[in-house]
Amino acid sequence: MIRIENATKLYGQTGADGAAVHALNGIDLQIGKGEFVAIMGPSGCGKSTLLHVLGGLDVLTSGEIFLEDEPIHRLDEAALTELRRSKIGFVFQFFNLLPTLTVEENVRLPGLLQNQPAGTIESRCVELLSSVGMEHRAKHRLHQLSGGEMQRAALARALFMKPRVLLADEPTGNLDSEASARVVKLFRQVGQLHQTTIVMVTHSREVALAADRIVEMRDGRVI
Ligand SMILES: Nc1ncnc2c1ncn2[C@@H]1O[C@H](COP(=O)(O)OP(=O)(O)OP(=O)(O)O)[C@@H](O)[C@H]1O
Ligand SMILES: [Mg+2]
Repeated sequence: MIRIENATKLYGQTGADGAAVHALNGIDLQIGKGEFVAIMGPSGCGKSTLLHVLGGLDVLTSGEIFLEDEPIHRLDEAALTELRRSKIGFVFQFFNLLPTLTVEENVRLPGLLQNQPAGTIESRCVELLSSVGMEHRAKHRLHQLSGGEMQRAALARALFMKPRVLLADEPTGNLDSEASARVVKLFRQVGQLHQTTIVMVTHSREVALAADRIVEMRDGRVI
């Protein structure tokens, strides 16, 4: 599903000031269809950078990334936008949901952006809220939710377009261990149900153990 070859990402300029950062320093990684991979490693080792380039939110300095054999390192901005909308779901720790909207309004958003018919949007929204156990919180705004509930709402929204790939950056970072376990179990269930490929960054060994495989990173490399 995902094939990364000799991927590098350099931030800043190489020069006397030493300001350049090799956020990714020659990554080779393959992830199968429907596989659930956890990415672990110390702060600053390049985990978020890897997710961003995988999701077409940022571009590589060199190397190649294929998503179902599509070379995403060669796509232009318009094609990347379309790829993000149609194939990829994002769940991030922060800046995930729009705070002024209710849970159901957040979940419906991807459908509205794609100009789907109202009836289609509504039935998908109801189905998703039920699958993440959030029907009873549909009319709540963000400040009326717990951290675990916010992440479940974020997951529902990320799944709206039935993405082939779900990218999650520390989705349980703000949760206690019980809420973390619930959220990660939900990831597993939706992954299995729809053969969704999941790449999840986490600092928690316990959370990572729910994945099929743990990929360890250090200094921009997979070890
Ligand atoms: N826009 C940027 N400009 C310059 N350097 C950056 C930029 N974004 C990230 N970096 C640097 O790239 C490296 C990798 O950052 P990244 O955010 O991928 O780390 P991470 O593994 O996700 O860390 P954490 O666990 O703290 O979230 C870090 O050294 C960081 O300082
Ligand atoms: Mg990060």
